Amino acid sequence: MENYEPKIIAFCCHYCAYSAADLAGSSRLQYPPNVRIVRTPCTGRLEIDYYMRAFENGIDGVLVAGCEEGSCHFKDGNLLAKRRVNSIRTVLAEAGIEAERLRMVNVSAAMARPLVEYIKEMVETVRKLGPVKIKEPVNKTSTGV
Ligand code: FES
Repeated sequence: MENYEPKIIAFCCHYCAYSAADLAGSSRLQYPPNVRIVRTPCTGRLEIDYYMRAFENGIDGVLVAGCEEGSCHFKDGNLLAKRRVNSIRTVLAEAGIEAERLRMVNVSAAMARPLVEYIKEMVETVRKLGPVKIKEPVNKTSTGV
């Protein structure tokens, strides 16, 4: 695994996290190239299936970045996302996917540097874990969210 480079997706909500990623770019803050930023209107729009499909398609880690609590532009979408992420982590563990491969963070549009740090942390965490290995098909219905 010497040359292993994890594939990471960062789902960033349009209003805060994506703006922070944009600011990181214009501020020339660097983050690892193995991270793909995917813009979503709100983290509350991310169904559990999105995470599962990412892992089933060979993504090694998923970062969900939303607005700070109390600042979601869709009221409480980030709280819904938090509940979904927390509940699916248990299901992931049952399927042999370490819970650390899925993480949610909250940032404001001005928090470019913290977002870059979260991204780097995610890459390092997943690099230590190695490629994702799914033991068994994931039972998505057992999350209840
Ligand atoms: Fe950012 Fe909802 S708009 S998490």
